[in-house]
Amino acid sequence: TILVLDFGGQYNQLIARRVRELHVYCEMHPFNMPIEEIRAMNPKGIIFTGGPSSVYESNAPAVDPAIYELGVPILGICYGMQLMVNQLGGKVVKADSREYGKADLMIMEAEGPFANMSGAVQCWMSHGDKVEVLPHGFVGTGKTDHAPFAAMADPVRRFYGLQFHPEVRHTPQGSDMLRSFLFGVCGCTGEWTMENFIEEQVASIREKVGGGKVLCALSGGVDSSVAAVLVHRAVGEQLTCVYVDHGFMRLNESERIIKTFRDELGMNLIFVEASERFLKKIAGVSDPETKRKSIGNEFIYVFEEEAAKLGQVDFLVQGTLYPDVIESGTSTAETIKTHHNVGGLPEDMKFQLIEPLRTLFKDEVRELGLQLGLPEDVVWRQPFPGPGLAIRCLGAVTKESLDILRHADDIVFQEIKKSGLYRQIWQSFVVLPTTVKSVGVMGDGRTYAYPAVLRAVTSDDAMTADWARLPYELLERISNRIVNEVQGINRVVYDITSKPPGTIEWE
Ligand code: XMP
Repeated sequence: TILVLDFGGQYNQLIARRVRELHVYCEMHPFNMPIEEIRAMNPKGIIFTGGPSSVYESNAPAVDPAIYELGVPILGICYGMQLMVNQLGGKVVKADSREYGKADLMIMEAEGPFANMSGAVQCWMSHGDKVEVLPHGFVGTGKTDHAPFAAMADPVRRFYGLQFHPEVRHTPQGSDMLRSFLFGVCGCTGEWTMENFIEEQVASIREKVGGGKVLCALSGGVDSSVAAVLVHRAVGEQLTCVYVDHGFMRLNESERIIKTFRDELGMNLIFVEASERFLKKIAGVSDPETKRKSIGNEFIYVFEEEAAKLGQVDFLVQGTLYPDVIESGTSTAETIKTHHNVGGLPEDMKFQLIEPLRTLFKDEVRELGLQLGLPEDVVWRQPFPGPGLAIRCLGAVTKESLDILRHADDIVFQEIKKSGLYRQIWQSFVVLPTTVKSVGVMGDGRTYAYPAVLRAVTSDDAMTADWARLPYELLERISNRIVNEVQGINRVVYDITSKPPGTIEWE
């Protein structure tokens, strides 16, 4: 294992990604992880990440100096390098000018991360402080115009520092540098693969579950689907999945889920058709938050009822991913995501949790899903909110408006798929403002009907998003098809609001 200690920099998750791309297993923990835990983990190497602080400020995050006595190689990146300098007796000062962006790095010594490198390489800088005096035992191994010590090495203790960011693509040889540190310095072998991961997880799930009974709330989304299939691989019939159709799913979604999980993968799937119950529950409710809460609560009731029918259940599967673990486990991250708990599960249920994806990133989950035999349709499905179409049917939801929305939404789905843009777009869908009607003309007649709002965004993590620059021809096709084919819609508008200030959903 490689231990990545997190000082709150914006690229930190990327560091973990790059390490794993080299097939080396790593875990990211907060910088203040107790030294006993670090010792117990017995890492092959440690990486200090960047961070927003200055080492000379009071209360700047620091590591227990005992870490330098472990005999384990350390690579400090940006703030991580400055921290090493500061703690090991060198000097960090405020730079005359902030260095931000591409820079030419002159490699002076082919040590550690720079093994087999020489001359000038491009790197990505982002810092306002610089190293003025190296600690005892270190030599400068690289410099830029603004930073005389842009890299340093103490080959005896195997400590290395990089002022720039090897983890970003703007440092083209960054992965080579990380590889040299991991393989050359730390002695990693790069054997961590998805096959190994599946084997390890299957073994550990089997051991944990024993003869127990396992329950999984399947939503049809990527995470719960992959988690369910992985657990099924481990314990087979001991797993029961419950899928609740609240009536706010996309067209044919429920049929697809039954076909995939029950028919093709042979899993125990309880299908709960509860659309009338949910529709009744939110009848006349137009306030978005009330709508969301009613649906969330009702989901819990339905789920509990089904669980009760199964008798004693010992374990519950959840599709928690690594970014959620990192975000809730450290106080260093600068931004905290408001957590959308899928469906919102009951708190007083006496289960032990199984979270087999909690060390994985989203793209690793996709790779895992494919390896486990899930169809590409499931693995590449765009995110879909727990309350589903109910929060896209603005205002009070009726069966009639849901059907109109579902039809229009399906046309968008088909056309986006056909255009080949489905995977590049984070989400693409239709919103139906049911309180708005406008006049149109069709054939010889006047129409008076709802507009459809088309929403398509690009994003990496839903925290921020930009409206997708869809080709005009595609917009035209979508508009024509919706107005012609969907009874009840006579106009299509495109939402060109980014997030912030907008949100992705309308409610
Ligand atoms: P907003 O609208 O806040 O949405 O920009 C951010 C992302 O979260 C999804 N979303 C939800 N996901 N349960 C979920 O599992 C929910 O209640 C929920 N509400 C919004 C939304 O689709 C977008 O991807």
